[in-house]
Amino acid sequence: MSQKSPEFLPELSRRSFVQSAALTSAGLWAGWQAWAQEKVESAPAGNEPELAVAIIGVGSQGYNSLLNCSLKIPGVRFVAVCDIWPFWQKRALKLLEKNGQKANGYTDYQEMLAKEKQLDAVIVATPDFKHAEHAIACLKAGKHVYCEKEMSNTLDGARQMVLAARETRKLLQIGHQRRSNPRYLHALKLMESDKILGRMTHCYGQWNRSRLLEGDWPKADELDADTLKRYGFESMHQHRNWRWYRKLSGGPMCDLGSHQVDIFGWFAKAKPGAVIAGGGTDYYKSEWYDNVMCIYEFPTPAGMVRASYQILNTTGHGGFYETFMGDEGSMTISEDSRIGEFFREPTAKKHDWEAESETTEKAGQQAFTLKIGETLDPSGKPAAEGQKLLEEVKKPVHQLHLENFFSAVRHGTPLSCPAELAYETCVTVMKVNDAVAAQKRLEFKPEEFVV
Ligand SMILES: NC(=O)c1ccc[n+]([C@@H]2O[C@H](COP(=O)([O-])OP(=O)(O)OC[C@H]3O[C@@H](n4cnc5c(N)ncnc54)[C@H](O)[C@@H]3O)[C@@H](O)[C@H]2O)c1
Repeated sequence: MSQKSPEFLPELSRRSFVQSAALTSAGLWAGWQAWAQEKVESAPAGNEPELAVAIIGVGSQGYNSLLNCSLKIPGVRFVAVCDIWPFWQKRALKLLEKNGQKANGYTDYQEMLAKEKQLDAVIVATPDFKHAEHAIACLKAGKHVYCEKEMSNTLDGARQMVLAARETRKLLQIGHQRRSNPRYLHALKLMESDKILGRMTHCYGQWNRSRLLEGDWPKADELDADTLKRYGFESMHQHRNWRWYRKLSGGPMCDLGSHQVDIFGWFAKAKPGAVIAGGGTDYYKSEWYDNVMCIYEFPTPAGMVRASYQILNTTGHGGFYETFMGDEGSMTISEDSRIGEFFREPTAKKHDWEAESETTEKAGQQAFTLKIGETLDPSGKPAAEGQKLLEEVKKPVHQLHLENFFSAVRHGTPLSCPAELAYETCVTVMKVNDAVAAQKRLEFKPEEFVV
């Protein structure tokens, strides 16, 4: 697929649970096998009623992030695991067993739904082209669903998911986990209540990485051609690298861009009016664009916000983050918790908390490190609240989003990324692929965002 040597680049560079120093590509398979033996450090048991949960798709994200994080949440009990690849299904069942949860394994999700009647909720972490089929079947079987982003690889699939959630009156949370991240929530509060940016005029975001990620597999554990075909794959390479194939994924804009473009609309409190984009398959031999650059226009009541975004697969320069710029200050934030800064324009008024913040001089401006829940709480909230926030931000980011979901299942608290919101992000993101193909500025009609 790539012009570079197809060295196995595991999904481990994804920021999640898997940033374990011990796991580099060299000892990778050995590492994964070892994980199956691990016991997860779980939270102290709470008084929450137990929930019976299943997961479909225990690959990189399903196993490393969602299964591991769910095991840390009191009262979440896995009773079933479904994956078409026995190699990874067994790995997940072993991990559960180590953690005192004996679950049944399935390759067919329909068989699982037919037999596991007691399920309260299902986590879907299969490739994007299967999300609509899997999520809708679970909703129709009366289960609440946590489904990974990108909601679907087609707008129609995403629309059908919204309709199924509405019709069945079951919860459908989509995995844009920044929406449950206290650092992002705190940043938004600072923008809204303390107006640290003044009037927001521009956003910038990027996800740069040095290579196109490719997944390998142990030859002894290959799926046979019939099984692959039955589940929509033409080869084992497609099964392991579905995100680079057009009929299986929406490409890098959906895979990575959807997380960050979701934040643009959320923080601007607006839907885009238009987008202009460029990109192509310039360096690798993948079906999807390996680099994309785009500029959105977000008309807001306060005026225009322009947001530029890029994904590169040839340089890791700067990593991944989002910057929000206003006439009084700018703020950079990332899911990488090491990244978080606020710059105040010299002409803007000082904030009370600046004296307590770590500062550095950058390009003639003072940069203040964002310390969530500590120095940057503008309203001087009681220490206990700040302390709670500090505890929360130590949790893995996917755990926070799963906790939000399980709390909604148990107590009816609001989902932080319900299907309708994620659908708007789908519309926003997919138009970029259309704009790259059309090589022109494309407009959004308000009705496109409505299901
Ligand atoms: N929220 C995040 O930060 C984040 C990060 C990475 C991936 N993701 C999302 O998670 C999902 C999975 O991505 P991944 O990187 O784990 O992919 P992956 O290829 O590593 O894992 C997918 C798993 O699904 C299984 N599978 C495929 N078809 C199936 C079917 N019909 N029935 C049952 N199992 C099936 C595969 O065998 C594999 O184990 C994608 O939607 C991706 O966009 C989200």
